[in-house]
Amino acid sequence: MKMIVTGGAGFIGANFIFYILKNHPDYSIVCVDKLTYAGNLSSLESVMNDSRFKFVRLDICDREKIYSLFEDEKPDVVVNFAAETHVDRSIVDPGIFLQTNILGTCVLMDACRKYGNIRYHQISTDEVYGDLPIDRPDLLFTEDTPVHTSSPYSSSKASADFLVLSYHRTYGLPVTISRCSNNYGPYQFPEKLIPLMILNALEDKSLPVYGKGINVRDWLYVEDHCSAVDLILSKGKIGEVYNIGGNNEMKNIDIVKLIVKALGKSEDLITFVADRKGHDLRYAIDSSKLKRELGWEPNTAFETGIDSTIKWYLQNREWWSRIIDGEYKDYYEKMYSDRENLGTLK
Ligand code: NAD
Ligand code: TYD
Repeated sequence: MKMIVTGGAGFIGANFIFYILKNHPDYSIVCVDKLTYAGNLSSLESVMNDSRFKFVRLDICDREKIYSLFEDEKPDVVVNFAAETHVDRSIVDPGIFLQTNILGTCVLMDACRKYGNIRYHQISTDEVYGDLPIDRPDLLFTEDTPVHTSSPYSSSKASADFLVLSYHRTYGLPVTISRCSNNYGPYQFPEKLIPLMILNALEDKSLPVYGKGINVRDWLYVEDHCSAVDLILSKGKIGEVYNIGGNNEMKNIDIVKLIVKALGKSEDLITFVADRKGHDLRYAIDSSKLKRELGWEPNTAFETGIDSTIKWYLQNREWWSRIIDGEYKDYYEKMYSDRENLGTLK
């Protein structure tokens, strides 16, 4: 079985490559990644010399080169992780999100059609469902929840989902889609909540919590996301959407407090700052379809997962210091220096 994994130099893609190589000795992987600011070849160091693995630097929007790659490699399966992924960046500059997330998906699926109706899996997100009220814990996103997006990021992912389903109906392309909740774990780029708070706390920098910190996310350990995608690839029903969730809703402020405590830092570092525009209140996923039909369950309890994630960042300073000493500095400055300070915990 030969898989093309796009976006494999990013957070979830890299973890997925490790998962597949470890659990399927008979699979080989061609990783396609443009190496944007979020892509990091050093994340793939441990598999670079594996004869079952190959890395190709390529933009998924480059139709000609993608076609010639498919012609050369003749993959059996394509799993598309490649995307622009940060909501805050999508608010500042939506264009590249439409380019990669929608047009890139179109190019990959056209290649799948052209070179033998190849099995295609789209990595999507729970953010396509919009948000849920905080005071209605009984409401969860199911696969039948209407798509109703808030940010340019989620709108681009939702557009891609519609396109994927239309390729199934119109051309009979064998597709599946998974919509996962927030992931955490090793190799996550420091712009995202959990690594940002870990790294800032380690350096005794202020911890910028948007608004009142009451927004809720459903956190899933990245390896559990990988096992779900693996299962959907082997047993999922063609043309279907599967939700993946951790059943682990937490308020942002509680996550930040937990990280502060784990690192033995002071809660005085926590600073409430101007809220994200259009900030989704709550995400909560009902993944009972995946459990019922394919037998999937998450393996890692949040306490265990967050503990090993924090340890990973403590033990891999070289990986993240190269990032935060680079262009990330300008990003951080632009994103946070002018943000209104709304006070501290007291
Ligand atoms: P990431 O930002 O860490 O990695 C994205 C990767 O895609 C990077 O390696 C980047 O170089 C690559 N890439 C970007 N544009 C490309 C292009 N045009 N051509 C080729 N490669 C390109 O993202 P992530 O958090 O690992 O997310 C991976 C996927 O999972 C995305 O599709 C995202 O929407 C989805 N997802 C993420 C989460 C989460 O919590 N992180 C949750 C649900 C779904
Ligand atoms: P993020 O990791 O960007 O994921 P998403 O927006 O896709 O859920 O953010 C998670 C939550 O944390 C979200 O409610 C926004 C909030 N947040 C902060 O409060 N401060 C920050 O500096 C960041 C990056 C996020």
